[in-house]
Amino acid sequence: MRNIKTLGLLGTGVIGGGWAARALHCGIDVVAADLNPKMEDWIRGAVETAAPALDDLTEGMAMPPKGTLSFTTDSREMAEAADFIQENVPEQLDLKRSALASIADVAPADVIISSSTSGFMPSELQEGMTHPERLLVGHPFNPVYLCPLVEVVGGKETSDAAKQAAKTFYTGIGMHALMVRKEVPGHISDRLQEAMWREILHALNDDIATTTELDASIVYGPGLRWAIMGMNQIYMMAGGEGGAGHFLEQFAPALDWPWSHLKAPELSDEIIDRYVDGTTEQAEGQSIRDMERIRDECLVAIQKVLRKHDMASGATLNNFAQLMQDKQGR
Ligand SMILES: NC(=O)c1ccc[n+]([C@@H]2O[C@H](COP(=O)([O-])OP(=O)(O)OC[C@H]3O[C@@H](n4cnc5c(N)ncnc54)[C@H](O)[C@@H]3O)[C@@H](O)[C@H]2O)c1
Repeated sequence: MRNIKTLGLLGTGVIGGGWAARALHCGIDVVAADLNPKMEDWIRGAVETAAPALDDLTEGMAMPPKGTLSFTTDSREMAEAADFIQENVPEQLDLKRSALASIADVAPADVIISSSTSGFMPSELQEGMTHPERLLVGHPFNPVYLCPLVEVVGGKETSDAAKQAAKTFYTGIGMHALMVRKEVPGHISDRLQEAMWREILHALNDDIATTTELDASIVYGPGLRWAIMGMNQIYMMAGGEGGAGHFLEQFAPALDWPWSHLKAPELSDEIIDRYVDGTTEQAEGQSIRDMERIRDECLVAIQKVLRKHDMASGATLNNFAQLMQDKQGR
C-alpha cells in the first residue's frame, strides 16, 4: 500500500470540506479540486470553522503538524498529485461516472479512488473505468471531521487489497471503518435513516406531528441512547433480564400492526412547505454556521464522555490516540 501523504478531493462542497478538515488535522496534505473556482474560499472557510472542534477532540493527543491545503479547478492535476482520492461530487450517477472515469485515466494504478456516494453501489460506478479494482465506496457522515463512521463497500471488481488499504487509511485519520459485506443501494446506515425519514414525511403528511414534535420524539428519547449502544443492544436491555428474547416476545406482534408505512408519501407542495417551514421555525433565526458550532461542541463532548467508557465512537478515539502515540514513538 502507498504511504498516503496527499489526499486528493474531487468536489469540495459540504462533504469535501469535511474530508479536508479531518485529513489536514491528521497531518495529511490535501489537493482539492472543484469545477467552481469560488469553492476555494468555501473550503478554506470550512477547514477554519472545523479547527476548534478538532483541536478540542484531540486535545492531549500526539498529533503531527497539520497538513497543507491547495486548490485547483483541474481535476486531472489533482489526480496526478494524490496518493488516495476521495470523490464528493453531487449524487447523480452520470456525473459521478464521468468525473470518476476522467480521474481514473490519470491517477496511477495503485491510487485508490473512493466515492462518498450516499447510495450508489460501487459496481455502478466502476463500469468502464481504468483499473476498476481500486474503486470503492467510502461513505462518511456529516460532519466528516467529527463523525468517525465510514462505510467501506467494494464492487464486483474491487480488490480485497484496495478495501484493506482504504480501511488502514481511514483508521489512520481517526475513523471507524465499517466493512460492508454486500453492496446494496444506500449501504447500511442510509437505509436505516431513510426508513425513519419516510415515517417523518408520513407524519407530516397525515398531520400527526410538526417537525418540532417529531424531533422532540427523537432527541429526548431514542436519539440520546443511540450514540452509546445502537438500537439492537438498547432493545436487548428493554427486554429486562429476559434480554432480546423477551423483547421479541413482547414487541414482535407490533410488527404486524400498522405502526409504520415503509413506502414514502408523495412529496406534495404541502409536505415540502411543512418540512421546510417547520425546520426554519425550529432554527429560531440561527444561521447554519451557528447551528454547526453548537452541534460540533456537543459532538466533541459526547465523544469525550464515551472515551472514558471506551465505548462506540469513544473507543475509536482511544484507538486513534494510541495510533498517534505509536507513530510519534517510531
Ligand atoms: N451532505 C451530506 O450529508 C452527505 C453525507 C454523506 C455523503 N454525501 C455524499 O457526498 C457527495 C457530495 O455531497 P455534498 O453534500 O458535499 O454536495 P455539494 O453539492 O455540497 O458539493 C458538491 C461539489 O461538487 C462540485 N462538482 C460538481 N461536479 C464536479 C466535477 N465534475 N468535478 C469537480 N467538482 C464537481 C460542485 O461544484 C460542488 O462544490 C454526494 O455523493 C452525497 O451523496 C453527502
